[in-house]
Amino acid sequence: MKSVSTGRSSAQGGPVRRSTAGRLGLVIGWAMAMLATPVLTRAGQAPPLPLIPMPAQVERHDGRFEITGDTVLSVPTGDTAALAAVQDLAARLQHTRSLKLGVRQESTASPHAIRVALTSDAPVTEPEGYALTVDGDGISLTARDSAGLFYGAMTLWQLLTPDDRHGAVAVPAMSVRDWPRFRWRGLMLDSARHFQSVDTVKHLLDAMAEHKLNVFHWHLTDDQGWRLQITRYPELTTTGAWRTPPGAGAHGEPARYGGFYTQAQVRDIVAYASARHITVVPELDMPGHAQAAVAAYPDRVGVTGARPPVSVDWGVNPYLYATHAGSLAFIDNVLDEVMTLFPSTYIHVGGDEAIKDQWKASPAVQAQMKQLGIKTEDAMQSWFIDQVGKYLEKHGRRLIGWDEILEGGLPASASVMSWRGTQGAIDAARLGHDVVLAPGGSLYFDHLQSLRADEPNGRYDVLPLKTVYAFDPIDRSLTAAQAGHVLGTEATLWSEFLPSAWHIDHALFPRIDAFSEVAWSMPAQRDWPGFLTRLAPQLQRYRALGIPYADSAFAVDITLDGSVDATLSSGKARIALGNQVDDGSAGYGQIHYSTDGSEPTPASARYAGPFDLGLPATVRARAFAADGTALAATRSRRFDDESLRTLSSIELRPCPDGDSGLRLPLLPDLAAPDTPVYNADIFRACKIYPAARLDGIGAIRVDAARLPRNFGLAHDQVKVIGYPRATPFGELEVRLDSCDGAVLTRLPLPAGDALGTRLNLRGDLPAQSGQHDLCMRFTAPSNGPLYAIGTVQLIPTAKPAVSHLSSGKTEP
Ligand code: ACM
Repeated sequence: MKSVSTGRSSAQGGPVRRSTAGRLGLVIGWAMAMLATPVLTRAGQAPPLPLIPMPAQVERHDGRFEITGDTVLSVPTGDTAALAAVQDLAARLQHTRSLKLGVRQESTASPHAIRVALTSDAPVTEPEGYALTVDGDGISLTARDSAGLFYGAMTLWQLLTPDDRHGAVAVPAMSVRDWPRFRWRGLMLDSARHFQSVDTVKHLLDAMAEHKLNVFHWHLTDDQGWRLQITRYPELTTTGAWRTPPGAGAHGEPARYGGFYTQAQVRDIVAYASARHITVVPELDMPGHAQAAVAAYPDRVGVTGARPPVSVDWGVNPYLYATHAGSLAFIDNVLDEVMTLFPSTYIHVGGDEAIKDQWKASPAVQAQMKQLGIKTEDAMQSWFIDQVGKYLEKHGRRLIGWDEILEGGLPASASVMSWRGTQGAIDAARLGHDVVLAPGGSLYFDHLQSLRADEPNGRYDVLPLKTVYAFDPIDRSLTAAQAGHVLGTEATLWSEFLPSAWHIDHALFPRIDAFSEVAWSMPAQRDWPGFLTRLAPQLQRYRALGIPYADSAFAVDITLDGSVDATLSSGKARIALGNQVDDGSAGYGQIHYSTDGSEPTPASARYAGPFDLGLPATVRARAFAADGTALAATRSRRFDDESLRTLSSIELRPCPDGDSGLRLPLLPDLAAPDTPVYNADIFRACKIYPAARLDGIGAIRVDAARLPRNFGLAHDQVKVIGYPRATPFGELEVRLDSCDGAVLTRLPLPAGDALGTRLNLRGDLPAQSGQHDLCMRFTAPSNGPLYAIGTVQLIPTAKPAVSHLSSGKTEP
């Protein structure tokens, strides 16, 4: 979702430090029960195979094959596809579990070998499919195409990892027949909003290969940057690849931000992808999201001829490509270089979020429309897209665009990628066009993964693992023939709020695992509890590879089960534990906890229901898989007088009428994952502290932040609400009961406009009694910086007399 202007649900605030879960590096002493214990043989009793995505068919048999240091990877002499697959496998096994297997090219396979062969009589006939057989004498992998062999080798890699024993390993006897449900299994990376290194791109390609994904959709141009070297038009990257963000030069940030991929780097990446059976589909966004191109060549492609800066505003910006012959010729010339670099049949041309103000205001565009007999600007976009589509077609390529290209009538040549839900795909498939489903609500990985206070940057709504897993690209309303137009599905990494490689990994893993089963596995094999069981060994692989995956699905939420009021007056807290996957049905991930400050282990108390603790108390909790491996980092929470009167991100509520929520880093373009993050609402700088007990409260303290207001809101600009202010820079206003209630205090905002600043606001509150909502809103000018609330603390007038309420030492 690139637009920031869609109505979204609750935004909640709080500066936090990100979890370090997953950045543990190599974990020693893995326990891999699946392979370390004897394999049970009766169906239903065998531990699940550690495979993601789940293969189409798996049969388990008696017995197992023992791999030793003498086991070789055997390929027929001259079988280059098999050789490539086993060389990749051998390197992976050595890297990830120090298992060094020799590779042998031979006319007769060695006994007790892992035999890999490309053969036209392999038992799986579907493209990209493979057959894998394990028995006491060895392992056999066959496929009819090289992609199938590659994917079979990935399955084999998963069967052989993770394991703590460097050396002998056993694989249970089985027969696997596997092939993909969809032929387009995509991942999109936005390299325009933030720029990633070549190494990061390759790391993503590796992750795709391991998950049997095969289309890397590379979003290379947008308002905020043009990232692809075009030799004919050097200004696209000398000018278009660089922007000056708000606050640039402050906080040690570079004065400009940007970068681009040279054509040599692109060739290297395309070859790297191809070796992993991944097609790179480049996207050049047009006619909108064109500001960087217009900044580079305003006279060639701009509508007005005026030169804008490369944009620093996320969202929807007004700059479009001009529609005249010169602009289209420029695009054709760019496409000539693009087609030389990218062998992909499909070229993505964007087409999304092009507000037509510039075309409406341009006499030249209006005259051209009249001459072409085109009545609306949406229809003009169709004509424009069709011109580009015809050029691509002439060169043997095909055009794909976002679902907005449906709006003015879909050009015959176009395929559609549906992002605004699934309706675009349904409509296009009914019209006989090929479609790819990338709906924002299910597959946009820049969305938050939880409402935890330790959640990093992202967009509301929350997109948890289970929602990704539940997505089905084939809508039930489609006939079989229409469903045949569904090429597949794609997850996206829009990068406005993913400024670093760390953020990208955190957003991607393990949602990519859930997505891989959406894209590859057959509906009959989809099984949420089974997936969670298979995810445990996958997380171990991530730890071994040093991948900072998100543990949001398993992280334990430690909550007060009962009112703050009752807790404070009784001196006893009733505490509940839970996590996202513990929904009562799957029963997965046992939660253990301690109250003595010790690290929870599987030997610690097992959570069975809410429990009582005297104040002050500290609870530490962690979820474990059945074999005792930890599924998430330990979470800890202290309950005392002060913490019970402090609300952080999770507890603050949006003001009435909904909001447009974002969780933003304190500083823009920040590469360090440990920056505090604040929940902001672009349209109304307002939050509710619900049900505050005000008896004995004498003051309020608010941790807030001054952030850049760099959002292209286009026609939604009118939704930004400003509140009247009493002092020049505005105040944080606290009102009783509702946002129309009596003003309890106004805390003036400090002078200045330095961005990325934390503000510690404190003020006295007049005496009140009873329980009230508090409406807190910033009255700063709505055309200035954005203010966001982090935590809010209510401070008693005097220390409570009861000794158990005195807050002990705070947690380090
Ligand atoms: C999009 O998210 N604007 C395709």
